Amino acid sequence: MDDGDAAVSDTRRDQLVATCRTVLDTNWRDGWTCPSADLYPHQWLWDSCFIAIGLAHVDPSRAADELRSLLRGQWANGMLPNMIFAPGTRDLGSRTIWRSRTHDDAPRDVDTTCITQPPLLAIAAMRVAAALDEPARGEFLRELFPRIVAHHEWLYRERDLDGTGLVTLIHPWECGLDSTPPWMDALRRMRLPWWLRIAERLHLARVLRRIRYDTRQLPAAERATDDDGFLMVAAAVHAKRYGFELRRMPRNEGALLQDVGFNAMLAAANGALRFLTDDLGESLPPSLDASIDRTMRAIDDLWDNATGQYCSRDAVTGALVTARTIATFLPLWAGIPVGERAARLVTQLRDAASYWPAFPVPSVPIDAPGFREVRYWKGPTWVNTNWMLVDALHAYSEADLAEQLRERTIAVVATAGPFEYFSPLDGSGHGAPDFSWTAALTLDLALE
Ligand code: GLC
Repeated sequence: MDDGDAAVSDTRRDQLVATCRTVLDTNWRDGWTCPSADLYPHQWLWDSCFIAIGLAHVDPSRAADELRSLLRGQWANGMLPNMIFAPGTRDLGSRTIWRSRTHDDAPRDVDTTCITQPPLLAIAAMRVAAALDEPARGEFLRELFPRIVAHHEWLYRERDLDGTGLVTLIHPWECGLDSTPPWMDALRRMRLPWWLRIAERLHLARVLRRIRYDTRQLPAAERATDDDGFLMVAAAVHAKRYGFELRRMPRNEGALLQDVGFNAMLAAANGALRFLTDDLGESLPPSLDASIDRTMRAIDDLWDNATGQYCSRDAVTGALVTARTIATFLPLWAGIPVGERAARLVTQLRDAASYWPAFPVPSVPIDAPGFREVRYWKGPTWVNTNWMLVDALHAYSEADLAEQLRERTIAVVATAGPFEYFSPLDGSGHGAPDFSWTAALTLDLALE
C-alpha cells in the first residue's frame, strides 16, 4: 500500500463520499444505524453520535432521528445505555448478561445494557442542530436538551460519589476502547469470586471461544484475546451482583477506573451542553454547573509528570495507570487549559517511532511492549480517535499536523475501505467491514 502522505484526488474523494453514504444507507435500520450488519447488529451510544455527525452533512433530518432513537433506551434515572438491542437478532447471549427489564428504571419496550458509554450526545446534537433549518432545529433541541441534562446529572450523581469532578467507570465497555491496556491490567488485578477462579483455572476462556460471536466472523488475532474476553464477561457478572450500581459495589473487589478518555470526552460534551444551554436561553441546574467546573480542574490531577502524559486513575488504589494509550491526548480535545503540557504531548504525537508511524494514530504506540498491530484496541488506528485529534490539534494551533492527520485518515479509508480499524504500519483494514462510524466520520473529515 502507498505511503500515507499521499493526498486523495478530487475524483477519489467523490468516490469515497459515495462509498461512505452507501455504508450508512446499508446499515440503516428504519430509525437508527447499526455499526456493521453482521458483527454489530444492535445500536450503540457513541457510534450513533458519530454516525449522526456524519449524516448531518448529507441528511440532517435523518441525523436528528438517529439521535432521537437513542432516547428510546434512556432509563428513568437519566442513564443512557451503551447498547439498545435490536429485536429479533440471534445474538441472545449478550442480552442475557443484562436483563435490563428486571431494573425498575429501565425502559419497558426495548432491551438495553445496564452500563453507559462516552457521553457524546451533546456534541452530536450541537452539530446536527447546526445543519437543521428552523423550526426543525428549535424543536429538535428542545426535545433533546432535558434528556441530555438528565444523562449528565446521572453521571455525576451515580458515578462521582465523592464529588471530585471525575466520573468512575465500572466496566471497560463503558470507556469505548474496550480492551485497552489500562483496563485489562486493572481486570487482571480484580479479585474473582471462587467459581470464576475455578473457571479460570479450568481455562474456560478457551471453551468460551466456541460461543463467541465476534471470532466466528473475524480472525481471532484481530479481536480481544480469549483471556481478555473472559475477564470482561467476569467484570460484567461482578457488576451485576450489585445491580450495576457503583454506590453498592465494594471498593476492594472488581476494577473501577476514573478513565481519562471518558472524562475528557465528558468535559468536551459539557462544553457543548453549555453552548446549547445558552443557545436555548435556558440555565443548568446549579449542582450540574458546579460539577462541570470541577471536571475541568480535576482532569489536571490525571497528569503524570514523570511520563509526561494524562492517565486514568485506579479508583480502588488511587494510583495513576501509566500504560501508554491514545487516550492520553483526549484532554486536548476537551479544551482543558493544559498549558505547556500540550507541547509535551504534541512532541510525543509527532514521534515516528511511537505515535506517528506511516498510518497514525495507533491506539497503543508502536514502541509499547503491549502493541499489537491488528488487535482491536491494542494498537490499530481508529477513525473516531483520529477525528477527535484533528479537532484537538486545531484548538492547540497545530494546524499543519491537524491537516496532515485529516489527509492521512481520509487516504487510509480511501485505499483500504471503510473498515473498523487499520494497521498503523501498513494501512491495511481490519475488524468489521463497512463500519458505520468510519464512514460517517470520514464524511465529516472530507466534507467539512
Ligand atoms: C466495539 C467497540 C465499541 C463500539 C462497539 C460497536 O465494542 O470497542 O467502542 O461502540 O464495538 O461499534
